[in-house]
Amino acid sequence: MLDNTTGMPSFDSLQTPFRGRIGRSIVHIRKTSSTMQDARELVKLAEDIVELHGTVIIADQQTRGRGRFGRSWDSTPGKDILLSLIVCPRPSITPQLTIMASLAAALGVEALTDSAATIKWPNDVLVDGRKICGVIAEGSMIGENFAGILGIGLNVNSRPAKDAYRTYQATSIRELTNPNQAINRVDVLSVLLAKLNELYTAIDKGESIMPEWRDRLATIGSQVAVSIPTQNENADDEVISGIAEDIDEFGRLLIRESGGTLRAVASGEVTTRTHSHIP
Ligand code: BTN
Repeated sequence: MLDNTTGMPSFDSLQTPFRGRIGRSIVHIRKTSSTMQDARELVKLAEDIVELHGTVIIADQQTRGRGRFGRSWDSTPGKDILLSLIVCPRPSITPQLTIMASLAAALGVEALTDSAATIKWPNDVLVDGRKICGVIAEGSMIGENFAGILGIGLNVNSRPAKDAYRTYQATSIRELTNPNQAINRVDVLSVLLAKLNELYTAIDKGESIMPEWRDRLATIGSQVAVSIPTQNENADDEVISGIAEDIDEFGRLLIRESGGTLRAVASGEVTTRTHSHIP
Protein backbone atom coordinates (compact mmCIF):
# COMPACT_ATOMS: atom_id res chain seq x y z
CA MET A 1 0.00 0.00 0.00
CA LEU A 2 1.28 3.50 -0.81
CA ASP A 3 1.10 6.35 1.64
CA ASN A 4 -1.10 9.17 0.26
CA THR A 5 1.18 11.93 1.43
CA THR A 6 4.61 10.54 0.60
CA GLY A 7 3.86 8.08 -2.21
CA MET A 8 6.12 5.63 -0.37
CA PRO A 9 5.21 2.11 0.75
CA SER A 10 3.48 2.62 4.09
CA PHE A 11 3.41 0.73 7.36
CA ASP A 12 -0.37 0.32 7.03
CA SER A 13 0.39 -2.99 5.42
CA LEU A 14 2.30 -3.98 8.52
CA GLN A 15 0.85 -7.47 8.72
CA THR A 16 4.11 -9.37 8.51
CA PRO A 17 3.81 -12.25 10.97
CA PHE A 18 6.85 -11.58 13.15
CA ARG A 19 7.26 -14.71 15.19
CA GLY A 20 10.01 -13.73 17.58
CA ARG A 21 9.61 -11.90 20.85
CA ILE A 22 11.24 -8.79 19.45
CA GLY A 23 8.54 -7.08 17.44
CA ARG A 24 5.70 -9.26 18.76
CA SER A 25 3.86 -5.99 19.43
CA ILE A 26 4.32 -3.10 17.00
CA VAL A 27 2.94 0.35 17.61
CA HIS A 28 2.84 2.44 14.43
CA ILE A 29 2.61 6.21 14.77
CA ARG A 30 2.44 8.50 11.75
CA LYS A 31 3.87 11.63 13.34
CA THR A 32 5.46 12.01 16.73
CA SER A 33 8.11 14.10 18.44
CA SER A 34 10.39 11.11 19.03
CA THR A 35 9.78 7.38 19.35
CA MET A 36 12.24 7.47 22.28
CA GLN A 37 9.85 9.76 24.12
CA ASP A 38 6.88 7.53 23.23
CA ALA A 39 8.74 4.46 24.48
CA ARG A 40 9.63 6.24 27.72
CA GLU A 41 5.99 7.10 28.28
CA LEU A 42 4.89 3.53 27.62
CA VAL A 43 7.45 2.29 30.15
CA LYS A 44 6.32 4.88 32.69
CA LEU A 45 2.65 3.95 32.33
CA ALA A 46 3.09 0.17 32.25
CA GLU A 47 1.72 -1.85 35.13
CA ASP A 48 4.17 -4.62 34.39
CA ILE A 49 7.10 -3.58 32.21
CA VAL A 50 8.05 -7.19 31.53
CA GLU A 51 4.90 -7.31 29.41
CA LEU A 52 6.42 -4.63 27.19
CA HIS A 53 9.52 -6.66 26.37
CA GLY A 54 9.92 -6.78 22.60
CA THR A 55 7.54 -3.89 21.88
CA VAL A 56 8.52 -1.77 18.88
CA ILE A 57 7.32 1.78 18.34
CA ILE A 58 7.77 2.89 14.77
CA ALA A 59 7.05 6.29 13.25
CA ASP A 60 6.81 7.73 9.75
CA GLN A 61 7.90 11.13 10.95
CA GLN A 62 9.61 12.60 13.98
CA THR A 63 9.56 16.31 14.73
CA ARG A 64 12.26 16.12 17.40
CA GLY A 65 14.24 12.99 16.55
CA ARG A 66 17.08 12.45 18.99
CA GLY A 67 20.63 11.48 18.19
CA ARG A 68 23.48 10.74 20.55
CA PHE A 69 25.07 13.50 22.63
CA GLY A 70 21.98 15.70 22.51
CA ARG A 71 22.07 16.03 18.72
CA SER A 72 19.00 15.92 16.56
CA TRP A 73 18.20 13.09 14.16
CA ASP A 74 16.64 14.38 10.97
CA SER A 75 14.86 12.31 8.40
CA THR A 76 12.45 12.97 5.53
CA PRO A 77 8.86 12.00 6.51
CA GLY A 78 7.77 8.55 5.35
CA LYS A 79 11.10 7.47 3.93
CA ASP A 80 13.13 5.77 6.60
CA ILE A 81 13.02 3.45 9.58
CA LEU A 82 12.61 5.33 12.84
CA LEU A 83 12.00 2.94 15.69
CA SER A 84 12.43 2.37 19.39
CA LEU A 85 12.51 -1.11 20.88
CA ILE A 86 11.71 -1.77 24.54
CA VAL A 87 13.56 -4.66 26.18
CA CYS A 88 13.61 -5.98 29.74
CA PRO A 89 16.82 -8.00 29.83
CA ARG A 90 18.60 -9.85 32.60
CA PRO A 91 21.11 -7.41 34.15
CA SER A 92 24.08 -9.43 32.88
CA ILE A 93 23.24 -8.82 29.23
CA THR A 94 22.57 -5.09 29.39
CA PRO A 95 26.14 -4.17 28.25
CA GLN A 96 25.47 -6.09 25.04
CA LEU A 97 22.26 -4.31 24.02
CA THR A 98 23.73 -1.56 21.83
CA ILE A 99 26.21 -4.05 20.42
CA MET A 100 23.26 -6.25 19.48
CA ALA A 101 21.37 -3.36 17.88
CA SER A 102 24.28 -2.11 15.77
CA LEU A 103 25.26 -5.61 14.71
CA ALA A 104 21.64 -6.44 13.78
CA ALA A 105 21.46 -3.27 11.69
CA ALA A 106 24.79 -4.05 9.99
CA LEU A 107 23.68 -7.61 9.18
CA GLY A 108 20.32 -6.31 7.95
CA VAL A 109 21.96 -3.73 5.70
CA GLU A 110 24.20 -6.43 4.23
CA ALA A 111 21.28 -8.75 3.58
CA LEU A 112 19.35 -5.97 1.84
CA THR A 113 22.13 -4.36 -0.19
CA ASP A 114 24.87 -6.94 -0.75
CA SER A 115 27.32 -4.29 0.49
CA ALA A 116 29.72 -4.85 3.37
CA ALA A 117 28.72 -2.89 6.47
CA THR A 118 31.17 -1.83 9.14
CA ILE A 119 30.63 -0.35 12.59
CA LYS A 120 32.20 2.84 13.80
CA TRP A 121 32.60 2.31 17.53
CA PRO A 122 30.40 2.14 19.42
CA ASN A 123 27.33 1.82 17.23
CA ASP A 124 27.22 3.76 13.95
CA VAL A 125 26.69 1.53 10.94
CA LEU A 126 28.62 2.58 7.84
CA VAL A 127 28.90 1.41 4.25
CA ASP A 128 32.01 2.57 2.40
CA GLY A 129 32.65 4.98 5.28
CA ARG A 130 29.21 6.59 4.94
CA LYS A 131 26.70 6.42 7.79
CA ILE A 132 23.54 4.45 7.10
CA CYS A 133 22.26 3.81 10.61
CA GLY A 134 22.58 5.26 14.10
CA VAL A 135 21.69 3.67 17.42
CA ILE A 136 20.90 5.34 20.72
CA ALA A 137 20.19 3.61 24.03
CA GLU A 138 18.52 4.58 27.29
CA GLY A 139 17.81 2.56 30.37
CA SER A 140 16.07 2.88 33.70
CA MET A 141 15.27 0.70 36.68
CA ILE A 142 11.55 0.21 37.25
CA GLY A 143 11.26 -1.52 40.60
CA GLU A 144 13.49 -4.55 40.27
CA ASN A 145 13.44 -4.62 36.50
CA PHE A 146 15.68 -2.89 34.01
CA ALA A 147 13.89 -1.35 31.04
CA GLY A 148 16.07 -0.62 28.04
CA ILE A 149 15.01 1.50 25.07
CA LEU A 150 17.01 1.06 21.87
CA GLY A 151 16.47 3.72 19.21
CA ILE A 152 17.37 2.85 15.64
CA GLY A 153 17.40 5.31 12.76
CA LEU A 154 18.06 3.54 9.47
CA ASN A 155 18.23 5.45 6.19
CA VAL A 156 16.07 3.55 3.72
CA ASN A 157 14.77 5.81 0.96
CA SER A 158 16.25 9.14 1.94
CA ARG A 159 18.88 10.83 -0.14
CA PRO A 160 20.99 12.11 2.72
CA ALA A 161 22.71 15.47 2.37
CA LYS A 162 26.46 15.12 2.07
CA ASP A 163 27.08 16.70 5.41
CA ALA A 164 24.06 15.34 7.26
CA TYR A 165 26.38 14.04 9.96
CA ARG A 166 29.22 16.07 11.30
CA THR A 167 32.12 13.84 10.52
CA TYR A 168 30.77 11.32 8.06
CA GLN A 169 28.84 11.43 4.84
CA ALA A 170 25.63 9.46 4.76
CA THR A 171 24.00 6.87 2.53
CA SER A 172 20.77 4.86 2.40
CA ILE A 173 19.60 1.41 1.33
CA ARG A 174 18.04 2.91 -1.79
CA GLU A 175 21.22 4.71 -2.73
CA LEU A 176 23.14 1.43 -2.39
CA THR A 177 20.70 -0.64 -4.42
CA ASN A 178 18.74 1.09 -7.15
CA PRO A 179 18.30 4.85 -6.60
CA ASN A 180 15.36 4.84 -9.04
CA GLN A 181 13.41 2.22 -7.12
CA ALA A 182 11.64 2.97 -3.82
CA ILE A 183 12.35 0.44 -1.09
CA ASN A 184 9.44 -1.07 0.83
CA ARG A 185 10.03 -0.16 4.48
CA VAL A 186 8.00 -3.14 5.70
CA ASP A 187 10.52 -5.47 4.02
CA VAL A 188 13.37 -3.62 5.70
CA LEU A 189 11.60 -3.74 9.06
CA SER A 190 11.05 -7.47 8.65
CA VAL A 191 14.74 -8.12 8.03
CA LEU A 192 15.81 -5.85 10.88
CA LEU A 193 13.44 -7.49 13.37
CA ALA A 194 14.56 -10.95 12.30
CA LYS A 195 18.21 -10.00 12.96
CA LEU A 196 17.34 -8.38 16.30
CA ASN A 197 15.45 -11.51 17.32
CA GLU A 198 18.28 -13.80 16.31
CA LEU A 199 20.90 -11.79 18.20
CA TYR A 200 18.74 -11.14 21.28
CA THR A 201 18.03 -14.86 21.54
CA ALA A 202 21.77 -15.55 21.31
CA ILE A 203 22.77 -13.12 24.09
CA ASP A 204 19.85 -14.26 26.23
CA LYS A 205 21.21 -17.82 25.98
CA GLY A 206 24.60 -16.57 27.15
CA GLU A 207 26.28 -16.66 23.73
CA SER A 208 28.71 -13.87 22.95
CA ILE A 209 28.12 -11.75 19.86
CA MET A 210 31.15 -9.64 20.72
CA PRO A 211 33.60 -11.37 18.31
CA GLU A 212 31.25 -10.80 15.35
CA TRP A 213 30.77 -7.15 16.37
CA ARG A 214 34.52 -6.70 16.90
CA ASP A 215 35.28 -8.06 13.43
CA ARG A 216 33.18 -5.28 11.92
CA LEU A 217 34.66 -2.45 13.94
CA ALA A 218 36.30 -0.15 11.43
CA THR A 219 37.80 1.75 14.34
CA ILE A 220 40.28 -0.93 15.48
CA GLY A 221 43.83 -0.23 14.37
CA SER A 222 43.25 3.45 13.69
CA GLN A 223 44.68 6.56 15.24
CA VAL A 224 41.65 8.05 16.98
CA ALA A 225 40.56 10.94 19.14
CA VAL A 226 37.59 10.11 21.34
CA SER A 227 35.71 13.03 22.72
CA ILE A 228 33.80 12.30 25.91
CA PRO A 229 31.08 14.86 26.62
CA THR A 230 30.94 16.12 30.20
CA GLN A 231 27.68 16.74 32.06
CA ASN A 232 28.94 20.23 32.89
CA GLU A 233 27.96 22.70 30.14
CA ASN A 234 30.84 25.01 31.04
CA ALA A 235 33.55 22.36 30.86
CA ASP A 236 35.22 21.19 27.65
CA ASP A 237 34.81 17.59 26.55
CA GLU A 238 37.61 15.26 27.61
CA VAL A 239 39.54 14.02 24.56
CA ILE A 240 41.54 10.80 24.61
CA SER A 241 43.87 10.29 21.65
CA GLY A 242 45.90 7.31 20.60
CA ILE A 243 45.67 4.07 18.71
CA ALA A 244 42.45 2.09 19.10
CA GLU A 245 44.04 -1.29 19.83
CA ASP A 246 41.05 -3.42 20.70
CA ILE A 247 37.87 -3.69 22.75
CA ASP A 248 37.53 -5.35 26.15
CA GLU A 249 34.88 -7.83 27.33
CA PHE A 250 32.42 -4.98 27.99
CA GLY A 251 32.81 -3.50 24.51
CA ARG A 252 34.91 -0.58 25.77
CA LEU A 253 37.43 0.81 23.32
CA LEU A 254 41.04 0.28 24.40
CA ILE A 255 43.19 3.23 23.36
CA ARG A 256 46.97 3.24 23.61
CA GLU A 257 48.02 6.81 24.34
CA SER A 258 51.32 8.10 23.00
CA GLY A 259 52.89 7.76 26.46
CA GLY A 260 52.04 4.04 26.43
CA THR A 261 49.06 4.08 28.83
CA LEU A 262 46.12 1.90 27.80
CA ARG A 263 42.78 3.65 28.44
CA ALA A 264 39.40 1.90 28.36
CA VAL A 265 36.65 4.19 27.05
CA ALA A 266 32.99 3.26 27.54
CA SER A 267 31.32 5.94 25.45
CA GLY A 268 32.26 8.87 23.25
CA GLU A 269 32.46 10.29 19.77
CA VAL A 270 35.31 8.88 17.71
CA THR A 271 37.21 10.84 15.10
CA THR A 272 39.53 8.67 13.08
CA ARG A 273 42.79 10.27 12.07
CA THR A 274 44.89 7.82 10.06
CA HIS A 275 45.14 4.08 9.72
CA SER A 276 48.06 2.55 11.51
CA HIS A 277 48.04 -1.05 10.25
CA ILE A 278 47.52 -2.92 13.49
CA PRO A 279 46.38 -6.44 12.58
C1 BTN B 1 22.84 8.62 16.48
O1 BTN B 1 23.09 9.73 16.96
O2 BTN B 1 23.56 8.12 15.61
C2 BTN B 1 21.64 7.84 16.97
C3 BTN B 1 20.41 8.18 16.19
C4 BTN B 1 19.16 7.42 16.63
C5 BTN B 1 17.93 7.91 15.89
C6 BTN B 1 16.72 7.09 16.20
S1 BTN B 1 15.40 7.40 15.08
C7 BTN B 1 14.29 6.50 16.08
C8 BTN B 1 14.63 6.83 17.51
N1 BTN B 1 13.92 8.01 17.93
C9 BTN B 1 14.73 9.04 18.15
O3 BTN B 1 14.37 10.19 18.48
N2 BTN B 1 16.00 8.69 17.95
C10 BTN B 1 16.10 7.28 17.57
